[in-house]
Amino acid sequence: MPRSKSPAAKRKSSAKPTRRSSRTTTRGAARRNGHGDDAIALLKADHRKVEDWFAKFEKARGDDRKRALAEKICNALRVHTQIEEEIFYPAFFEATGDEDLHHEAIIEHDGAKKLIAEIESSGPDNEFYDARVTVLSEMIKHHVKEEEQRDGMFAKARSSDMDLVAVGQQLAARKAELESSPDALKALSRAKEAGKGLITRLTSSL
Ligand SMILES: [Fe+2]
Ligand SMILES: [Fe+2]
Repeated sequence: MPRSKSPAAKRKSSAKPTRRSSRTTTRGAARRNGHGDDAIALLKADHRKVEDWFAKFEKARGDDRKRALAEKICNALRVHTQIEEEIFYPAFFEATGDEDLHHEAIIEHDGAKKLIAEIESSGPDNEFYDARVTVLSEMIKHHVKEEEQRDGMFAKARSSDMDLVAVGQQLAARKAELESSPDALKALSRAKEAGKGLITRLTSSL
C-alpha cells in the first residue's frame, strides 16, 4: 500500500506544479504572440533580451561587433524606458500610490539615459567605451532587480488592481510605433536631455 505523504511533502509537491505552470503560461504566451500576454511579461521579455546582448558584448572582440551590440542595447533601452515612463509607471503610480518605487525608477532611468547618450556619441575606439557599456550593464542589472524582485514594482503591480492585460496592449502598440521611428525617439530623448540641462542651468543661476 502506498504510504501517504507528510503534510510538508504534500505542500512541496503541490507548490511545484503551480510555480512551473505559471512560468509555462508566461513562456507559452510569449511564444504565441511574441510579447507575452500582459504588461509584465512584455517588460520582462525586454529585460531578458537586453541581458543577452550585454552578455554577448562582454565576450565580443571586434569593434564592429561591439558597436552593433551596443547600438542594439541602446535602442532597446531607449524604447523600453520610454514605454515604461509613458505608460507603465504612471499606471503603477495611479494604482499603488507608491511614490518611492516610482520616483527611484525614474531617477535610475535618467542615469542610464546619460550613459546611453555617451555610448552613442563615442565608439569602440574610445578608451572608455567598454567601461561605459559595462557600467550601463551593472546599472540595468540593479534596476531590473528593483523592478522584478519579490517586493518590487512588478510584484506590487500584480497585486494591485492594475489591468495588466490592457496596459500590456498599450505598451505593445507604443513599442511598435517607437521601434518603427528610432530616429524620432532619439531626437526626443536628446531634446529632453537638453531641456533638463537648461532647467538645471537656469535653476542654478537663480
Ligand atoms: Fe524595465
Ligand atoms: Fe525601468
